[in-house]
Amino acid sequence: MSAQIGVTGLAVMGANLARNLARNGYTVALHNRSVAKTDALLAAHGDEGNFIRTESLQELVDSLEKPRRVLIMVKAGAPVDSVIDQLTPLLEEGDIVIDAGNSHYEDTRRREAALAEKGLHFVGVGVSGGEEGALLGPSIMPGGSRESYDSLGPMLEKISAKYNGEPCCAWVGTDGAGHFVKMVHNGIEYADMQVIGEAYDLLRSAAGIEPAEQAEIFREWNTGQLSSFLIEITAEVLAHKDGKTGKPFVDVVVDSAGQKGTGRWTVVSGLDLGSPVSGIAESVFARALSSQRGQRAEAQEVLTGAETEVQLPETFVEDVRQALYASKLVSYAQGMDMLAAAAKEYGWDLRLDEIASLWRAGCIIRAELLDDIMKAYEGGKAPANLLLDPAFAESIAAAVPAWRRVVATAVQLGIPVPVFSSSLAYYDGLRRRRLPAALTQGLRDLFGAHTYNRVDEEGTFHTLWSGDRSEVSAVDTH
Ligand code: 6PG
Repeated sequence: MSAQIGVTGLAVMGANLARNLARNGYTVALHNRSVAKTDALLAAHGDEGNFIRTESLQELVDSLEKPRRVLIMVKAGAPVDSVIDQLTPLLEEGDIVIDAGNSHYEDTRRREAALAEKGLHFVGVGVSGGEEGALLGPSIMPGGSRESYDSLGPMLEKISAKYNGEPCCAWVGTDGAGHFVKMVHNGIEYADMQVIGEAYDLLRSAAGIEPAEQAEIFREWNTGQLSSFLIEITAEVLAHKDGKTGKPFVDVVVDSAGQKGTGRWTVVSGLDLGSPVSGIAESVFARALSSQRGQRAEAQEVLTGAETEVQLPETFVEDVRQALYASKLVSYAQGMDMLAAAAKEYGWDLRLDEIASLWRAGCIIRAELLDDIMKAYEGGKAPANLLLDPAFAESIAAAVPAWRRVVATAVQLGIPVPVFSSSLAYYDGLRRRRLPAALTQGLRDLFGAHTYNRVDEEGTFHTLWSGDRSEVSAVDTH
């Protein structure tokens, strides 16, 4: 018996993907650096399907049908290179190496090019949905060559999450496109969680609503426009009481958020692409600030807060819901904008409707909203910005008054809402007829002869600031 796919790296994500494949009828060869993990998986779940136990990469490779498919699920970074280096000498032309971890897309581009020279396919696959998703059906975003997808796609589609029966898996583009799309998913995930946190903080600190009561509010919100996995689990976490103290669980957790890096990567790429992913950036910075515990402890003693007593409007809870919705929408718009910019930069044929469709089930950011986002781009429609899709322009307009009230209240009370407020600034920046960037250009021209364009004439100009202040035509060399 030979296996249709091999999995190396059997920590929880790898093990669950292997089990998912086996449960779907595929024969799966298993390999892990320490055989103990392979044996533990077989002992606990060996009866779920057909597995082949192997003790070395050579054995793994020998157990596979051709062209071979080997899925690597190890920690992103050097461990991936190390497995690739050990594996590739054992493979033959046409074989497919799959990296299903959260690798950086530039690493994937590099690895894809290197393996292509050896006649091997390297497929960077974004997989989202956490441990449970890996087992029961994740959202899957494969890159790599189109040819490799012909062989791999059906398997991945079979094990993926389904939305109304449609697989949440499709080839998104060549080389690193899959990992890029997954990275942007994670950036949005960061922003999604931050806006939820800001809503929670406002409801608690401004309106005095305790976590258990908030759980009910989030449960209610999950039945409407905001319906999503993250809102659903927010209700669960807020309702949870600490077993040791009986306090709300959120009150016994240290308020410093960690990160493994994908949110930061999204922001770095956003900067490189010139795509203003401000909400995603603020959510990464919010985690960083939360982790500066030393400075925060000192600041609590030194820096003053707000003195204003604010009369909250009757509609405060609903206002917060609308601010959350609008800010969330901005984060998605920023993420989609970044995908469009990357498609141009890297020559990827990213289909935004398809990407939104892959995120409708299985992944961490799955939300009702994504079906509407898919529709905004469906059939080749390409609004210049998601917020300009008529349906979204209308729904965000409806939320704007509440959004402004909430941000103003938060500012008056000294409650930080970096994503609520920066998203509103993005919205206003996008829609205003004139921006102060004209003044910035003037300043740049004065101190550095950086030149400017005019609103009423083609060409590039420079004013002789230290001369007679006349204007000359200039070639923009800066
Ligand atoms: C997923 C998740 C998963 C992980 C992220 C975030 O889609 O299943 O995004 O990949 O939770 O990497 O992790 P950090 O918050 O630690 O950066």
